[in-house]
Amino acid sequence: DKGNHRHFMAKEIHEQPEVISHTLSNYLDMANGRVSIPDLGIDLATVPRVTISACGTAYYAGLVGKYWIERYARVPVEIDIASELRYREAPLPEGGLALFVSQSGETADTLATLRYARANGQRIASIVNVRTSTIARESDAVLPTLAGPEIGVASTKAFTCQLSALACLAIALGRARGAISEEQEQELVSALIEVPRLISTMLVDETPYVELAHLLSKARDVLYLGRGLSYPLALEGALKLKEISYIHAEGYAAGELKHGPIALIDEAVPVIVVAPEDDLLEKTISNVQEVAARGGQIVLISNADPEKIGCELAAHIKIPDAHPLTYPLISAVPVQLLAYHTAVLMGTDVDQPRNLAKSVTVE
Ligand code: M6R
Repeated sequence: DKGNHRHFMAKEIHEQPEVISHTLSNYLDMANGRVSIPDLGIDLATVPRVTISACGTAYYAGLVGKYWIERYARVPVEIDIASELRYREAPLPEGGLALFVSQSGETADTLATLRYARANGQRIASIVNVRTSTIARESDAVLPTLAGPEIGVASTKAFTCQLSALACLAIALGRARGAISEEQEQELVSALIEVPRLISTMLVDETPYVELAHLLSKARDVLYLGRGLSYPLALEGALKLKEISYIHAEGYAAGELKHGPIALIDEAVPVIVVAPEDDLLEKTISNVQEVAARGGQIVLISNADPEKIGCELAAHIKIPDAHPLTYPLISAVPVQLLAYHTAVLMGTDVDQPRNLAKSVTVE
């Protein structure tokens, strides 16, 4: 049932405040400002490395997880796409933790990589949305996402719920290793608790996206840029747009711009920049100016004052001020809505795009 929405994807985007809240409440002791994740059957204080693997959007959630775990827990994290990790026969450290992220819990490559990790002595944990799935059953420990059934082929609410669980895991690891103090834990937990409300404020008025859809729908190529925690969001934004609008889109780390993709930029190329006000903003601004100098049409997704950018913008999508930990969750919403409204304008089958299956159970 789509409720009063035109597509399941729209309904699922709008469900995010509620399902993120559900997922967080599973991993947070809200009253005391603490995280409480299930026992993974491994000593979090001494785990030598975390290896994360997944496909598609779940992989991008994992990439955010890597940045969080490295930053807040100072544990080395390796991450790779499941179809690569399993075939390159990556060496895995003794006593390591392997973490798999999957909405369906049935993705063939992710499952095969899980089995590879088990055969190579890893403790297996998974973040899955379908509790009864094969990946959940074959894991030593499961961190469920409570997104509810996701019908739209383009993943939206499952992604932000995966991020919610990963943030809690990163904080738990950080505490176990003494990388963050009890006060820092409380600060991060309060930041997460704010997320559902902040996301609700972004779902009130979608007219800016409807207008921007006109710009994007005319483009042949669209570039998404982000740095640090926003880099996986650039990748996710590009994937969402190509999946449902069939417009060629690429996500790039902002710092890589001058190593190649800048050659693509001219007046016809919209460049979506995910740049919340964090400690990397200044660096990203210099990349934005390089794009502007070549006539690119810049769509800025940020809470920063556009005056700071120092160049003309085609549009500014304002996000709310938030704790730096939570910007990946906040920025997910504008990239989803941009893709959604562009696809609606173009008249594609938003919930069931061509050539795609909800669950990829073959290699
Ligand atoms: O069920 P999974 O999370 O394992 O699926 C992984 C990918 O197939 C999935 O995220 C895919 O990339 C989506 N269509 C993205 O919107």
